[in-house]
Amino acid sequence: MFKLTAKALACALSLTIAGLAQAAESATAPIVIKFSHVVAEHTPKGQGALLFKQLAEERLAGKVKVEVYPNSSLFGDGKEMEALLLGDVHIIAPSLAKFEHYSKGVQIFDLPFLFDDMAAVDRFQASPAGQGLLSSMEDKGITGLGYWHNGLKQLSANKPLYEPKDARGLKFRVQASQVLEEQFKAVRANPRKMSFAEVYQGLQTGVVNGAENPYSNIYSQKMHEVQKYITESNHGLLDYMVITNTKFWNGLPEDVRGELRKIMDEVSIEVNKQAEALNQGDKQRILDAKTTEIITLTDEQRAKWRDAMKPVWKKFEGEIGTDLIKAAEAANSAN
Ligand code: LMR
Repeated sequence: MFKLTAKALACALSLTIAGLAQAAESATAPIVIKFSHVVAEHTPKGQGALLFKQLAEERLAGKVKVEVYPNSSLFGDGKEMEALLLGDVHIIAPSLAKFEHYSKGVQIFDLPFLFDDMAAVDRFQASPAGQGLLSSMEDKGITGLGYWHNGLKQLSANKPLYEPKDARGLKFRVQASQVLEEQFKAVRANPRKMSFAEVYQGLQTGVVNGAENPYSNIYSQKMHEVQKYITESNHGLLDYMVITNTKFWNGLPEDVRGELRKIMDEVSIEVNKQAEALNQGDKQRILDAKTTEIITLTDEQRAKWRDAMKPVWKKFEGEIGTDLIKAAEAANSAN
């Protein structure tokens, strides 16, 4: 007959107790949500990520812990999408220029001179067409949770850019977007794809001569220190789609998912309200630094940039879809 010695019994009991304690702990351990991004904290996206963390940890105390990794410190922009799909990070907010392998429709946001102002961007993003893009990548495992603004992009270089011909032959850093490559080819400049973390050094060493960014990205990456001129062209948009891994998101307890969704909606409203002021503040900081002249275009000069860049639309309208482009254009005139 099998007999347990007192020692073996004690040992078995303590193992069971340890196992139970561990199971109880993991049942109550908070869900860790890693939110990774590539910009500085004092930017619209950086502030949005921190607000999301704050509200989630306040309202879901003990249930959720949000770890925010800014400045490409966990994943750079070449790797973050892959990491999201692998489940190594749970929320990211890539710029809308970084979705071309996942959704052709999202390329619409890169079309130069598409939106008259940020109010038009708001209207399009809130429209059925804009909202439809958030769920357009579910089959690839990506769920869109909302849009966050950064703002309109400005051209920068070490020579003054008044007209498209001034950009001829210059090397411009672009995000990983074919539309943006074509945009610079349209003014006979040379686009170079480069990850965000490398832009400052690229400009400093002359690997590239110019770039396009909203003021908040220029200032927070100190690009103004290596660019003598900024042309306030407002020629294109740099906004974000906040996305999560579909399987991770659908696997969250329903109450947690519902609350996180509410928080995300609230944070999106706040980010989109603050972004313009943040960019204007950084424009002033650049002026105060006296490193860089900011060029304001006349209407005629700006029209020349628009005429030179707009033919890019034709190249992509098949992929993007004319209905989507019409919906975006309609957002310009709506009140
Ligand atoms: C860029 O690469 O220029 C931007 O996408 C960076 C960002 O996230 O704002």
